[in-house]
Amino acid sequence: MIPVYVNNNYVLVPQTASVLEACETVGVTVPRFCYHSQLPIAGNCRMCLVEVEKSPKPVASCAMPVTKNMRIFTDTPLVKKAREGVLEFLLLNHPLDCPICDQGGECDLQDQALTFGSDKSRFFEFKRGVSDKNLGPLVKTIMTRCIHCTRCVRFASEIAGVGILGTTNRGKETEIGLYVGELMSSELSGNLVDVCPVGALTSKPYAFSARPWELRSTETLDFSDAVGANVVVELKETEILRVQPKQNDFVNRVWLSDRGRFSFDGYKNQRLGTPFFRTLQANHAPVSWKMVASILKNINKLLILKQSLVNKALFTKVVTFGQLFSKLAVVCSNSMSTDDLFLLKQNCSKFGIKTFGHSGTYAPVAELDSTTFFGCDFTTTDLPKTELCVLIGTNPRFEAAVFNIQLRKRFTFGLFKTYSVGLPHSPTFATTFTGISTSFLIKLGEGSSKLCKEVVTKTSAIVAGSSVFKRVDRNLFLTVFASLKKVANIGVDKDLMTGFLNRETNAVGAAACGIRAINREDLNNASIVYLIGEDHNVDTLNSLIADPSKVIVYQGAHNQFFTNSSDLVLPTTSLLETSGLFFSFDGRVQKSNVVSKGLGEAKSHSAISSIFNTALLTASSAAIPVNFFTSSLLEPDFTGSSVDVYMPAMKELNTIPAPFSAFSSVLHYTKTQRFARTPYLASVFDFHLVNTVTRASKLMVKCSQASRLNHKNFITL
Ligand code: SF4
Ligand code: SF4
Ligand code: FES
Repeated sequence: MIPVYVNNNYVLVPQTASVLEACETVGVTVPRFCYHSQLPIAGNCRMCLVEVEKSPKPVASCAMPVTKNMRIFTDTPLVKKAREGVLEFLLLNHPLDCPICDQGGECDLQDQALTFGSDKSRFFEFKRGVSDKNLGPLVKTIMTRCIHCTRCVRFASEIAGVGILGTTNRGKETEIGLYVGELMSSELSGNLVDVCPVGALTSKPYAFSARPWELRSTETLDFSDAVGANVVVELKETEILRVQPKQNDFVNRVWLSDRGRFSFDGYKNQRLGTPFFRTLQANHAPVSWKMVASILKNINKLLILKQSLVNKALFTKVVTFGQLFSKLAVVCSNSMSTDDLFLLKQNCSKFGIKTFGHSGTYAPVAELDSTTFFGCDFTTTDLPKTELCVLIGTNPRFEAAVFNIQLRKRFTFGLFKTYSVGLPHSPTFATTFTGISTSFLIKLGEGSSKLCKEVVTKTSAIVAGSSVFKRVDRNLFLTVFASLKKVANIGVDKDLMTGFLNRETNAVGAAACGIRAINREDLNNASIVYLIGEDHNVDTLNSLIADPSKVIVYQGAHNQFFTNSSDLVLPTTSLLETSGLFFSFDGRVQKSNVVSKGLGEAKSHSAISSIFNTALLTASSAAIPVNFFTSSLLEPDFTGSSVDVYMPAMKELNTIPAPFSAFSSVLHYTKTQRFARTPYLASVFDFHLVNTVTRASKLMVKCSQASRLNHKNFITL
């Protein structure tokens, strides 16, 4: 630390600090345009000029390092005049657009012109005009408003790793643009809106919809991946208008993926707002919650009814609730909050329901040694100290874009190598791809690969993706990890960190509750399947739905794959409408907040649990006559037509393309001790469409179409 004086105030600052940072230490804010705490210094706007003792001219504080006993002044007439001059030049060609500019109210230029600018204008010429550029469906450009701070250029090349933005020409002809023939193809393009200090780059979906002072903000989490990025959701009245990143230096710093930022319309599309029951005519009709309780009390009759219809014979055998629970399979989703998962597990234990699990891929954690946290023994904050990273069967750019930023950042610091095994993709930093065959992994496990030496003698991280859980040889990955760790521990100061980059939002939370992947055979034997939550592994469950003798109850927020085939549909609140605990892939526990109210009659998972509990407890204590054909079960509470309310939503669902149908899971485990020769399957085929919310988002569907049409580097195998 060295001493400096800011406006005659003594302060100790780090030797590497800039003059601007030294001023901030004593609470003096220096105006700036091109400086951004997360980007490299450019020093080209000159708005941060300050006076330094013995310097004949004002200096750019963002680009000037402090020296011992430096005397800095930010409030002298020289500084005031310098700022006025810079602003006058910036406004020479700036349009008078504030009333129709989406940046209005949160514009650095507007604020600083008011605070530091002159109150007179000396400009009587025509202003220049600049043509707008096409930055895709998410970022709107009005390039005449650009002040050439180059933040966007530095973001694209340094953080996103797609150096396709640049400046052309000089002086007043300077323009920001894309390189010829290129289109903005980044999963992080929404961050351009945040880094641009003026209204040149704004959010297309937010255009002309609100002013910042009309918005109500709530902080919560991004549920589109397992990183747990912190976000601020902003609403105008009850409508979500935008999502922005909230700074958290341990998780996402100030960045957010496009999926997390722009998929918010998925929370209002294709939603379920009323419980539905499938009638004997196979139509879904809305029912009340009272009726739901009544159906649940009689669910054994419903089961017998369905089985009779399929077998064309009247089953008269009474199914007691004791027997019923042995026929019931409860399948939860890895995207539910830990609170809901824990409650569900407790309920299943209470009723003695044995067939219970999640439909995701994340599973083999019991075998890991006790020093790891559900498979991951490092956090993203450990990345700066690593020297080598091996990515196995994962494309972090698609699966966890914010984590990929951290990898790229580590790469740009230098002395860092990355190897990618199994899954070819287009990384944003130099990576050695070892091929799609498993022979490399076999050698790594056996210790016969040259990389073994590097892995155990350097501070290394091995990150495996969800795709390994789909493989028959997945337990061997753990063996390889463990054997490498054993060797690495012999070294004195080198660590080997291992972890799983899972795709599902709260897979680690489910593991923490002791919930494992459901067994496919158990599911086949079940007569009643209760699907809870969203983002189920569609291919694992699809075979169930084809069996008409099963009773299927679906409890979720969105009208998705299973609603059409379910006998009872129970609407729940979405993740933005409840609060709960979520575990990120590296074990960080964070709490989400309630952002808005649930839709219609939707209830939280815990409220439905109590309806379920009460119904089953009262029903199981009563004698149940088997009179289902004559029963008035279906009549009393039905309201409205069975088609009108339900079908429009189904039509909407059918218009959404479904590239995700390629998801497949081969969950038949064997005791093989060899790596299988089968290639790796990507967990995320399409960055924009990964879960129920993103698939319901019209914006994400549009982005997906645009990326598949235009962007060759979005293609992954
Ligand atoms: Fe006004 Fe700022 Fe928009 Fe320029 S960028 S028109 S100063 S709000
Ligand atoms: Fe700066 Fe915005 Fe212009 Fe990019 S577009 S140079 S971020 S003002
Ligand atoms: Fe220092 Fe732009 S902020 S030159």
